Amino acid sequence: MTTRIRPYRASDRDDVYEVCLRTGAAGTDATGLYSSDELIADVFAGPYLALEPELAFMVDVGDRVAGYVIGVADTRRFVDAYRAEWLPVFAARYPRQAPRPGEQWLVDAGYEPERMIFAGLDEYPAHLHIDLLPELQGQGLGRTLIRTLLEALRERGVPALHLGLAAENTAARAFYDRVGFHELRSSTPESPVLGIATDAAV
Ligand SMILES: CC(C)(COP(=O)(O)OP(=O)(O)OC[C@H]1O[C@@H](n2cnc3c(N)ncnc32)[C@H](O)[C@@H]1OP(=O)(O)O)[C@@H](O)C(=O)NCCC(=O)NCCS
Repeated sequence: MTTRIRPYRASDRDDVYEVCLRTGAAGTDATGLYSSDELIADVFAGPYLALEPELAFMVDVGDRVAGYVIGVADTRRFVDAYRAEWLPVFAARYPRQAPRPGEQWLVDAGYEPERMIFAGLDEYPAHLHIDLLPELQGQGLGRTLIRTLLEALRERGVPALHLGLAAENTAARAFYDRVGFHELRSSTPESPVLGIATDAAV
């Protein structure tokens, strides 16, 4: 399969939603897990594409996109823009009370962008999400996507980025450790938070 990394375009939106869904259960398929199959991407992908599309990079496999890294340069600014511009969109799609108890945490996440603010933000202002469909994993694309985003952030003068991940996603944790991320002070075993400088050799 020939793959090419390129900037996001608006026509990629549905593919990004699909990749987000199919990797949304701590790295495995989340299809059918929530009352809407779009909910997870409306929290972890849609706002990024809408508010900071220039920091979204796609893995193009010819006829579609099958992986991505999406980021924001300044998490505080993103939180403000999310509240002003994305929250009205989200609130029109999802009632505050989730239809299923098991998805209340995700609806809460969608309604509370301030959850993204933590003590390490001054040092690590950017953050990212990265997902590849299973057929693209393990070929070095994850490392290349991280490198691509770090370069774009460096060009914008951003010193470092962070990410949070599900503690049970041990495969992703092994990947981040391998490419050079380290644990931040605010990290806990239940909610790991990792960081990396944008000038790191990845
Ligand atoms: C996590 C993910 C982005 C990694 O991307 P990838 O393309 O599979 O990883 P790469 O092939 O670029 O691997 C880079 C390095 O990490 C190592 N690595 C990757 N996954 C690993 C694993 N599960 N265990 C041990 N090492 C791993 C690779 O061996 C490689 O090391 P090397 O370059 O020294 O050989 C990708 O597997 C994925 O999208 N998974 C599902 C969704 C997900 O969990 N996203 C993250 C949510 S926080």
